[in-house]
Amino acid sequence: MIREMLASTKGVPGMISFAGGFPSPETFPVNILADLFKEVITETGPDTLQYGASEGDNELKDAIIKWDTATQIFPSSRRDEHSPSILQQTGWSTSSTTQITPYALTRDELLICTGATNGIYYFTRALIEPGDVILCEGPTFLGSVVAFEANGAEVIPIDMDRDGIILDQLSDTIKNLRSQKKTIKFLYTIPDFQNPTGITMSIDRRYELIKLMQAEEILILEDDPYKELRYTGERLPSLFEIARSVYNDAQLVTLIKSFSKILGPGLRIAVAMGHPDIIKPMSSWLQKVIVNPEGVTQKVVARFIQKGYLIKHLAFIAQYYTPYNNAITAALEKYMPPSVSFTRPQGGIFVWVSTDSPLNFDALFPEIVAKKVAYIPGSKFYPEGFEKYNCLRLNFSYPTIEQIERGVEVLGKCIVHSA
Ligand SMILES: Cc1ncc(COP(=O)(O)O)c(C=O)c1O
Repeated sequence: MIREMLASTKGVPGMISFAGGFPSPETFPVNILADLFKEVITETGPDTLQYGASEGDNELKDAIIKWDTATQIFPSSRRDEHSPSILQQTGWSTSSTTQITPYALTRDELLICTGATNGIYYFTRALIEPGDVILCEGPTFLGSVVAFEANGAEVIPIDMDRDGIILDQLSDTIKNLRSQKKTIKFLYTIPDFQNPTGITMSIDRRYELIKLMQAEEILILEDDPYKELRYTGERLPSLFEIARSVYNDAQLVTLIKSFSKILGPGLRIAVAMGHPDIIKPMSSWLQKVIVNPEGVTQKVVARFIQKGYLIKHLAFIAQYYTPYNNAITAALEKYMPPSVSFTRPQGGIFVWVSTDSPLNFDALFPEIVAKKVAYIPGSKFYPEGFEKYNCLRLNFSYPTIEQIERGVEVLGKCIVHSA
């Protein structure tokens, strides 16, 4: 359905599309990658063009492990080595008695995948028996719901507020499902600049979610492709890091990080990080399906990290997208009527718009597209049977700043006219 919508709006002269989920091609480090591809083939061709290890290239794993260590929020177990802002931001006060245990990943805790979607599929394939339940945020990333359902899972969404997934509802849903003798296998969450809402889970919610899932013995699959696209505010620790460093739990959370929104989705490189007991069966599924992740690209990404390009490139991307993020927030403030609410993301590429009035953005789609503005109706981000129709997703990484201003103006007028 989303593909059809995108196809019907693509290439139409004058169309302003907020519908896609593509990163801007302006952010792809084309020249550096071109040099690195040449270098890798020239220097290591006979090796990298051969079949490789199913779990992925060790050079890339080592580069990711180093990167992960360098970017941990809790880099040290010594509280006095952390700045007050980090302490405050992490909910870890100086008077807290919490013991912090920084972790270092090992190679057998990593699996290189052909994009995050691929890793999400293997995680699901490894854990799910038909009829098992997967909990997720509602709305959520449709690609994952497709992978969950393809494996026979029942997918149950939990509402979100501005701090992320609502824990009371999550807790009630778990009780309810268990009273029906259902098996809940895991919770899928996108804590940073969520697709489709742009919401970032607050630090307190992260701690509380981990405590709840630990108590309920339900695994977490954390999908974090947007973490590095932060334009304002301070970086928050991943659920993976909190579980390991603060709760000393290496089993609870498996984290999937993709390079799609950093280097380009065409590279198809992501990494799953988790306990070897989970990574191993994921790796067997990967082996059955693709034999091994693509060798040359893995080495290219490894060198991109090792040679220090990644740090500079991330700073460039954040700077690049900031005016787009500001432009969409300003336009929504200017053109939306008071009955409309919208998220104000601190990063990522999406904004979520919803109305108090019972508007149906599926039904309004043809009328608004006829005015040359495209979006994705919110209903498309819910599992079947849970759809909401008074909402929509806007992507701000693809249109120009002028298009953002004009497109939001048209959308605002259509909403006022239809209400
Ligand atoms: C939350 C989320 N997860 C995963 C993906 C897919 O990432 P990849 O290109 O690495 O498969 C996307 C892409 O839009 C996404 O928004």
